[in-house]
Amino acid sequence: MPPMGIVEAARPEVVFPGGERRPALGLGTWRMGESPHARASEVAALRTALEIGWRVVDSAEMYGEGGAEEVVGEALAGAFAAGALARDDVFVVSKVYPHHASRAGVIAACDRSRRRLRLDAIDLYLLHWRGSVPLAQTVAGFAELQRRGWIRRWGVSNFDVADLHELCALPDVADAAPAAGCATNQVWYSLGQRGVEFDLLPWLRERGLPLMAYCPIDQGALAGAAAPAALREVAARHGATPAQVALAALLSQPGVMAIPKAVREAHLRENWQAMALAAALDAADRARLDAAFPRPARKLPLAMT
Ligand SMILES: NC(=O)c1ccc[n+]([C@@H]2O[C@H](COP(=O)([O-])OP(=O)(O)OC[C@H]3O[C@@H](n4cnc5c(N)ncnc54)[C@H](OP(=O)(O)O)[C@@H]3O)[C@@H](O)[C@H]2O)c1
Repeated sequence: MPPMGIVEAARPEVVFPGGERRPALGLGTWRMGESPHARASEVAALRTALEIGWRVVDSAEMYGEGGAEEVVGEALAGAFAAGALARDDVFVVSKVYPHHASRAGVIAACDRSRRRLRLDAIDLYLLHWRGSVPLAQTVAGFAELQRRGWIRRWGVSNFDVADLHELCALPDVADAAPAAGCATNQVWYSLGQRGVEFDLLPWLRERGLPLMAYCPIDQGALAGAAAPAALREVAARHGATPAQVALAALLSQPGVMAIPKAVREAHLRENWQAMALAAALDAADRARLDAAFPRPARKLPLAMT
C-alpha cells in the first residue's frame, strides 16, 4: 500500500565519483534464477519492476550460478526490444566470485556475466567479497575490463575499513581518475544492522563513495505484521508499511543506495513508494527508530550473509 498523503516528490539519488547520479533505490536479485520453473515469472517480475520505474538492478555470478543474470538479461532484452527502455536508462550491477578474482579470472568471469546479461558493458562490477587473491591482481583485471569497455565502473563488497585502506593504498587505486577508481562498497546495512554507521559509512562519505545497502529489510524480517513494533508505529503514523519505513530510513541517508529484492508485484510497488516516504520521516520518527534500533556506540564486526 503506498503511503497516504505523500506526493511522489524528488527521488533520492546517489552520486558516484566523477558525478554520475543514479537512483538511491535498486532491485536485488539474490535467490532468482535458481529454478527453471520460476524463470518466466521472475522475468515477468523484472519487467514489471522496470515498468514501475526501477532503474538499478543488482546481480552476481553467484546468484543461481548465473541464473539470476540470465533472468535480468532476458527481462532487459525484452524491455529494450519493446522500446520501453534505453540502455543508458538502467544501471546494471554484477559481482565476481573471489575465487575468480585473479587478473585473468576476472576477465573471463566478466565475459560470462555480460553474455548472460546480454549487455556489451556492465555498469558496475564488484568483487563479491575478499578472498585469497591479492587485491592488486583483481584491480589489474578491473582496469583491463575498463580498457576493453566491458565494465564502466568497479567496486567492492563486504569490505570493512581496514580492507578499504589496503585497497586504496594500491598505486593503481590511489592515483586513479574518479571513474577509474573504486566506486562503491556493498555491505549489509539495515535498521537491524547499523554497525556501518560507526566508521564505514563516514569513511565512504568522506571520500565521496556511495554505500550500497544489501538486505535492507533484513531479508523480510523488517516487513509485515511481524515487524518490530517501532517500525509498525512509525508506519502507522504515515499510513505506510514497516518495509517502507525500513527502506526510507536508509534512503534518507546521504550517500546510501538500498537494494531490496522482491519478485512479488505488491512488494515491488510497496518498496518503490519508500522513496517518497524518505523525505517525510521527521525527528520524532527518527527518535523512535533510534530507540528501537540503537546507533552503534563502538566498532562492530561487519555483518555478512
Ligand atoms: N554483496 C553481498 O554479499 C550481498 C549479500 C546479500 C544480498 N545482496 C544483494 O542485496 C539484495 C537484497 O538483499 P536480500 O535479497 O538478501 O534481502 P532483502 O532485500 O532485505 O529481503 C528480500 C526478501 O524480502 C521480501 N520482501 C521484499 N519486499 C517486501 C515487502 N515490501 N514486504 C514483505 N516482504 C518483502 C522478499 O520477498 P519476495 O521476493 O517474495 O517479493 C524477499 O523474500 C539481494 O537480492 C542481492 O542483490 C548482496
